[in-house]
Amino acid sequence: GKSGYDHYMLKEIHEQPTAIRQCLHERVVELEREIAVDSVASLSVPDRVQLVACGTSYHAALYGTRLLRERGVPATAFLASEYDVDAVPVDRETLVIGVTQSGETADTMTALREANSVGATTLAVTNVVGSSAARECDRAMYVRAGPEIGVAATKTFVSQQIALVVLASELTGEYDVDLVGALRDLPGQLQSVLDDSRARTVAEEYLDADAYFFIGRSYNAPVALEGALKMKEITYKHAEGFAAGELKHGPLALVTDRTPVFALVTEGANPTKTIGNVKEVETRGAPVVAVTDGCSDVERYADFVLEVPETHPALAPVLANVQLQLVSYWVANDLGRSIDKPRNLAKSVTVE
Ligand code: F6R
Repeated sequence: GKSGYDHYMLKEIHEQPTAIRQCLHERVVELEREIAVDSVASLSVPDRVQLVACGTSYHAALYGTRLLRERGVPATAFLASEYDVDAVPVDRETLVIGVTQSGETADTMTALREANSVGATTLAVTNVVGSSAARECDRAMYVRAGPEIGVAATKTFVSQQIALVVLASELTGEYDVDLVGALRDLPGQLQSVLDDSRARTVAEEYLDADAYFFIGRSYNAPVALEGALKMKEITYKHAEGFAAGELKHGPLALVTDRTPVFALVTEGANPTKTIGNVKEVETRGAPVVAVTDGCSDVERYADFVLEVPETHPALAPVLANVQLQLVSYWVANDLGRSIDKPRNLAKSVTVE
């Protein structure tokens, strides 16, 4: 059941601290300050990594590429539906990771089969034990979010993010001590975001908006995309997310006093440059909602601030994303949408 929540989505948003703990269990050993993942422990550091995924899982994959590149591994994320179309070069020295919550998404399966057919090493990062992706791939790493009922992916996305953090560390043997410590604190910090969030107030304030924009750089760019996707899916309102630097290359033309801009401004994700973009939209009368860890003076330009606790720069987007999930949820709720089963959408997309 929904355990007293009005929707599965809200319940699953609140299950995220637990989802993180489950994902980390026996993988991050705090006392020994190390990370260990059985399913990939024997893999050598790959020459290159390709991540294939759709939708929200693609946003997790984009986040994963950054984690890997930071550790010196050339990594690229592909939309699974474009993987064969693009004639991506793939060979035996490539590790291809399918990021798929359900493990059944047709496009992702096609991409993984293609990778297997040329002898690449394949790894499924999935939530479902024994799913098609888990069976197709050489290895499987389970994200352990528990069953997700709401069509909109929430806790499985967070679990994918955490699994990729752990995986990037394990694959490269780079155990950042600060990161390990920050992972331990993350469930409690996420809980504090849930307890203290002002997302409902923000949602009510901008219920009549023409469109919602989401901007962020670096680690936060995938979260900007994810914030917009969630908003579209469950509210049926227009939303766009993009890397903040793209703003002046087109989208700025859409910005008015009826298009709130959500700016992700956290430590280590080029806050100063993103504040530059915030000023550009503020000058054009757009309401600004800053999702921030207090690393800058972005509050000065913001109409609302959604706070996230300070953490390791790589984990800030995990917390920032939760604020955006809540904003979308409350907008959808206040508009009376069918939150757990949005129109036209299915939980598992098994046709290409
Ligand atoms: C959005 C959403 C979808 C899925 C996509 C891939 O909330 O849930 O975009 O992320 O259909 O699904 P999986 O991860 O099962 O391959």
